[in-house]
Amino acid sequence: MAKLQLENLRKQFAPNVIPVKDISLTIEDGEFITLLGPSGCRKSTLLRLIAGLEQPTAGQIFLGEQELTNKPPGDRNMTMVFQSYALYPHMTVAENIGASLKIRKTPSDEIKNRINVVASKLGLSELLDRKPGKLSGGQRQRVALARALVRNPEVFLLDEPLSNLDALLREQVREELKQLFENENKPVVYVTHDQTEAMTLSTKVVVLLDGLIQQLDPPSRIYTHPATKFVAGFVGSPQMNLLPLKCQDNHAMLGNFSIPLPVLSTIPADIDMGIRPEDLSLATGEDILTVEGKVFLVENFGRELLASVKVDGSNHTLRILIDPDVSFNREQIKLALNPHRIHWFDAKNGDRLNP
Ligand SMILES: Nc1ncnc2c1ncn2[C@@H]1O[C@H](COP(=O)(O)OP(=O)(O)OP(=O)(O)O)[C@@H](O)[C@H]1O
Ligand SMILES: [Mg+2]
Repeated sequence: MAKLQLENLRKQFAPNVIPVKDISLTIEDGEFITLLGPSGCRKSTLLRLIAGLEQPTAGQIFLGEQELTNKPPGDRNMTMVFQSYALYPHMTVAENIGASLKIRKTPSDEIKNRINVVASKLGLSELLDRKPGKLSGGQRQRVALARALVRNPEVFLLDEPLSNLDALLREQVREELKQLFENENKPVVYVTHDQTEAMTLSTKVVVLLDGLIQQLDPPSRIYTHPATKFVAGFVGSPQMNLLPLKCQDNHAMLGNFSIPLPVLSTIPADIDMGIRPEDLSLATGEDILTVEGKVFLVENFGRELLASVKVDGSNHTLRILIDPDVSFNREQIKLALNPHRIHWFDAKNGDRLNP
């Protein structure tokens, strides 16, 4: 049992290529950390650095007291599950699962036992004699996981393991993954660009952009207190409303309306106001903070409607979630903003301003 530590990790490929920049992270036993970010933000590169498939330009990697920075991948006691699964097509499921044990010259009885244990954990017992070509996507994905589990590594690394599955299957396997790794109680580093996976699976989420950590927090904190404007816009569906506004005397001007600012150490001239669609509601007459506008688009999500409202006196749009059974006037709608759920960001650097 050991924690995984990255200290000031850096990887520069070429002078004009965005590198991994100075990443420090500690992943405790039983912690499930997700590296979340858009395509190209260096998620896979960071995972490959941990696995030893890439060498860092600077920085160190520790597992417990042991330094791994210059150790080859085979000496790290970690397993990595790839998006492509990388199964051997000519081998059966059982042979695929046991291949790494065979290379390590594990006695054949033990290999058989361990294959049977993980196969039953992952519902693969009936499929052990099949070749990967005769498996569904979900089954192949399970074989890839079984291959990682059978080695009983100290750390699990997974790179977008669900991205080849259709939406329904992804949801099912996601739940299975959560249960599986809760029982393993080892550090897991999971890479995804899918915020739902990140939010549901992780104990902590690392939001990456251009090789830099934007925020490292438990999923609930990422959602309620996004540290930057980028995180605010990246996490949450439907997306948070983010409006660039001008400040005037402790207020931000939104068309015909002025929104009071919280107590801030400095008030910039330009500010971004963020509010999630679920933190807006139809005004009832007793609300502290309201704006009015005109609905120009309604999208039906089944459980809710998402209405886009052009705020009077501006070109700004606020999107609001509305109960489909409630009627409203599209020509003139009054919205209440929950003042405790407004996020403020410095327009210059995107940093969160309110506590
Ligand atoms: N060996 C290399 N030499 C030069 N550049 C590289 C190398 N490996 C990766 N890169 C750069 O890193 C970029 C992608 O980084 P990475 O794969 O870590 O991002 P990612 O966040 O995993 O993206 P995705 O979500 O698309 O998988 C590539 O576009 C490339 O520019
Ligand atoms: Mg990647």
